[in-house]
Amino acid sequence: MPAPRILLIIGGGIAAYKSIELVRLLRKSGHVVRCVLTRAGEQFVTPLTLAALSENKVYTSLFDLKDEVEMGHIQLSREADLVVVAPATADLMAKMAAGIADDLATTLLLATDKPVLAAPAMNVRMWLHPATQRNIATLRGDGVSVMEPDEGEMACGEYGPGRLPEPEAIFAAIKAALASAPSPLTGQPDFAPANHRPLHGRRILVTAGPTHEPIDPVRYIANRSSGKQGFAIAAAAAEAGAEVLLIAGPVALPTPAGVIRVDVETAVEMEREVAAGLPVDAAIMVAAVADWRAADTRAQKIKKDGSGEVPPLALAENPDILANVAKSDRRPPLLIGFAAETNDVVAHAEAKLARKGCDWIVANDVAADPMGGETNRVHIVSNAGVESWDRLPKPAVARKLMEKIADALETRAPIEAD
Ligand code: CTP
Repeated sequence: MPAPRILLIIGGGIAAYKSIELVRLLRKSGHVVRCVLTRAGEQFVTPLTLAALSENKVYTSLFDLKDEVEMGHIQLSREADLVVVAPATADLMAKMAAGIADDLATTLLLATDKPVLAAPAMNVRMWLHPATQRNIATLRGDGVSVMEPDEGEMACGEYGPGRLPEPEAIFAAIKAALASAPSPLTGQPDFAPANHRPLHGRRILVTAGPTHEPIDPVRYIANRSSGKQGFAIAAAAAEAGAEVLLIAGPVALPTPAGVIRVDVETAVEMEREVAAGLPVDAAIMVAAVADWRAADTRAQKIKKDGSGEVPPLALAENPDILANVAKSDRRPPLLIGFAAETNDVVAHAEAKLARKGCDWIVANDVAADPMGGETNRVHIVSNAGVESWDRLPKPAVARKLMEKIADALETRAPIEAD
């Protein structure tokens, strides 16, 4: 078999020094490595070091591709089996997501017809920024395999996710990518995002958003749920290869790629659609279901009669969808509830776990991360104990949850649809 060829694009950032070790690992195991340094990357590692280690010419942004002779460098990205971006800085990924090609590295990334693996490295705030998270979602949607960064202390002194994965981890991801079977459509390794589809063959049901409980034709009872976390979970489940049914309360969010969406308004409608969606391998009840509805919904708008009297509003309790699914004979093997709490988060979640009969409660403190925001700091409460995660953007919470769900389902046979 010919030696696998890696085109390694090295972005700027203090972590660029780790790319030296990556080149060493790749060469040691017989890969052909060609390195491209961005202008920023050149501030951290020298072309000479990389040339010595890769035993190949190193390309830098000095090649501006305006010269006809230099156009040949586009070939660089075609002659590789895999393009690796490490470190992938926030700036580089933003350009990739937008299709900007203003230097050699970004031109190669836009011109390539080969799979791309990106290993991000940046400051924790930059990683958590919604713009970066949006760009990562776009890149993954485009088929780029974006690794999760490591968590820990950063060169800038802050703590959190954003550190470049260790060279050994990138090396392992490269090997996994190269080992993926070629796609029957493209003939290329079908690895991104299909290389990592731990929920392939699974059916997942997600509820999301608030419910609206009508009082009369113009008024309703609702809550502040934005649906963002639930939609991010549906998107991550689809990205991980699952067949996803999303039952959404009234929200103004686009349907994530590859997700089947059913819109509902009330808790009663949501319960009906959930029942119709079973059986599934896992149900994730993220919706903030209204606990009560108006006991009698008026057919006509309630009018102020000028007497100053306030109309009575009698409430009736809504069905507890999660608790009812837990009791049903179609209970999914993995049933997950969410709990937005303002105090004693873990204690309330533990009580809810027992009361609702689900397997996990994903609890978050809405006093610290208000509903409708971009981040969540969650605690996964189960009979096995409590696992607390750092504050993460909602899409990152969703992706991490998918890994945990995939692990939990690993030994179970997939559920057959009716
Ligand atoms: N849930 C549900 N049906 C309801 C209420 C809640 O399926 N009628 C689900 C939610 O989707 C969530 C979990 O139960 O997964 C916890 O929701 P929450 O509103 O926190 O639970 P409640 O029992 O309503 O408790 P609280 O008194 O804290 O509102």
